[in-house]
Amino acid sequence: MTAQTNRYTTVAITLHWLIAVMLVLLIVVGWQAGDLREALLSGQETDATLEDVRFIYNMHKTFGLLVLVLSLARLAWRFTHKTPPMPETMAGWEKFAARFAHIAFYVLMIGMPLLGWAAASSSGLPSYLFDSDALRLPDLPVPESESVHEFTGWLHGRGGWAILVLLAIHAGAALKHHIFDKDDVLARMLPFLKRS
Ligand code: HEM
Ligand code: HEM
Repeated sequence: MTAQTNRYTTVAITLHWLIAVMLVLLIVVGWQAGDLREALLSGQETDATLEDVRFIYNMHKTFGLLVLVLSLARLAWRFTHKTPPMPETMAGWEKFAARFAHIAFYVLMIGMPLLGWAAASSSGLPSYLFDSDALRLPDLPVPESESVHEFTGWLHGRGGWAILVLLAIHAGAALKHHIFDKDDVLARMLPFLKRS
């Protein structure tokens, strides 16, 4: 294996951007599904049917589980490869904050799908991958109860907000590196950018 000291590998870069885009889409779809379900249950006028809501949730669950698999792959990559060192010019607290944000992201990338799966499993309703009746998702071993479902669903929703807050800080920091510090931190994760 060749030692790559100052760039992320293609695998790491691909996984980073794929997971980032999927997380944002999953959050938007999760909110939309919730709004649609509320509208239907409260009898508001809408063209959507309960079948549509079931379809959206099943696709949300399918792609959410794909994020879980991709994130575990990414974590495996992380443990088996050296990551590029942070610039010497970064203050101690900045390095600590960056490391903290990266670890928090990994916790959310793995914890969020598991929480969603727990919420689905405790609801008592079946879930189907790709909305296909042939692909029933097995339940996690959690009690089937209204309070467990409400709590895990609530935590899952808070997790969505935590991802968005971290994303704002993380992307802001990446842009600061590129625009103000003029170092290679963003360019090594975004290969089409010119390196300094
Ligand atoms: C990283 C992946 C995921 C993200 C970012 C995500 C995000 C979200 C968001 C933002 C909501 C809306 C919550 C609200 O309205 O307060 C939601 C709802 C939901 N998600 Fe996910 N989700 C992910 C994966 C999953 C998975 C893998 C499953 C199940 C296998 C799942 C099951 C659910 C369920 C059942 C709800 C409705 C919860 C409720 O309102 O009771 N999610 N998700
Ligand atoms: C929800 C979306 C995102 C997630 C979950 C995420 C997650 C991560 C994680 C976990 C790392 C650490 C890589 C490792 O060492 O294992 C990382 C690195 C990085 N991310 Fe993101 N990221 C997201 C969005 C973004 C965006 C929008 C940008 C740019 C504007 C960005 C720029 C970077 C850069 C430049 C690095 C490398 C930092 C370094 O070399 O120390 N990320 N990201």
